[in-house]
Amino acid sequence: MDKIPLHIVILAGGDSKRIGTGGPKALLDLCGLPLIEHIFRACKDLDAASYTLVLGPTHRPLIENWLVDSDYSGWNIVEQPQALGTGDAVRCALDSIDGDGQILVLCGDTPLIESETLELLISQGNSMLTAEVDSPYGLGRIIRSDSGELIDIVEEVDADETQLEINEINSGVYVLDIASLRESLQEASVENNQNEIYLTHSAVSVLKSKAGSTITLPIEESDQVLGVNTLSEFAWVTRLMREKILEEHLSFGVILDDPSTIFIEVDVAISPGVRVMPFSVLRKGVRVGKDCVVGPFAHLRSGVEMMEDSVVGNFVEVKNTTLEAGVKVKHLTYLGDAHVGKNANIGCGTITANYDGRNKHPTKIGDDAFIGSGSILIAPVNIGNKSTVAAGAVVTARHHVLDGETVAGVPARKFSK
Ligand code: UD1
Ligand code: CA
Repeated sequence: MDKIPLHIVILAGGDSKRIGTGGPKALLDLCGLPLIEHIFRACKDLDAASYTLVLGPTHRPLIENWLVDSDYSGWNIVEQPQALGTGDAVRCALDSIDGDGQILVLCGDTPLIESETLELLISQGNSMLTAEVDSPYGLGRIIRSDSGELIDIVEEVDADETQLEINEINSGVYVLDIASLRESLQEASVENNQNEIYLTHSAVSVLKSKAGSTITLPIEESDQVLGVNTLSEFAWVTRLMREKILEEHLSFGVILDDPSTIFIEVDVAISPGVRVMPFSVLRKGVRVGKDCVVGPFAHLRSGVEMMEDSVVGNFVEVKNTTLEAGVKVKHLTYLGDAHVGKNANIGCGTITANYDGRNKHPTKIGDDAFIGSGSILIAPVNIGNKSTVAAGAVVTARHHVLDGETVAGVPARKFSK
């Protein structure tokens, strides 16, 4: 039998009003990625016939700018001229999709959704994801008959007292037959307290027409369908995502002293046995090799690679820098755009002055170099292998220190006893 084509649609055409920042919630930074990129990642391996993102005119330019430079530039953007509701958003998307098959609809504000869950839903065909939650506030409630059959989805604002008591909610994720959905959306109208065209009613009517099959898929792990509508919900979702990342590192053998104080973003690779001490922040993509120690109070920003046995201690910020094996940077230091050779010792209070107000410049520190406390290295500059920069020296730009040389003073000069 031929496979039914699957078309994926993410809805992000809303105006993000409840977020209150003025900007789109899709681009809020969630553990190192724009919120919506987490959903793109969950869809990445789903083998779909097309990928569509629905955007509104206000936030489109910003989101589109990000998208074209991202790994997801193959996604088609469809504009929803006015935020008339989720049903209208899907209608706009369907106008750009040729032919029939099935559509997977996702909300652009549920970043914790996982690909395994989507795969399961897709494998069921025509179904929707629901969840039992302790506090269903703000969400669409699933209305069932006495025999448990799906009757309707009722939004919080349209619900009566009894319906508000229901804890089973609509996750906003559906797999629906496209031909039936097109038909149903043609008849969709605005008969609710938000004056919106709801996708929910059309989804229910499509699902009901497929009676006989399982049409709802309850998800055990209800956190996966948490939606971000307010900054308070965003803070909560950030916390859950952060805990999940920390848990992954712990299970991989990384020692985290009091994980509740440690922030690790996505795509960070840390070797088993490494110790990360409290109040450390490791940003997206940082790599930490065997036997390294990080923190306390260390900030490793993007582009940092620590090779084995290197140490970054307290109040040290490192950005876009490689520390070769055995490097020690133990206190009060900033290293940016630098390469530090094997076993070099970076004294307390060293600063690479990498920015001249217009451009960033590199600093190269050689193997076994010794940088004394309180030194300033003004980039671009090379500090040779086995060289010494005496405490308090200011090495000025392009005044390279040769291999084995000792420099001292302000500005730094060759020093001989
Ligand atoms: C929606 C569902 C609700 C469900 C909840 C799950 C409807 C009517 N309600 O409610 O049953 O429990 O999601 O999180 O579908 N959007 C558009 N265009 C619009 C309006 C919204 O693209 O005109 C997008 C938004 O950007 C958002 C998503 O659709 O990403 C959901 O919209 P939102 O307003 O957040 O719906 P909820 O009130 O959360
Ligand atoms: Ca929502």
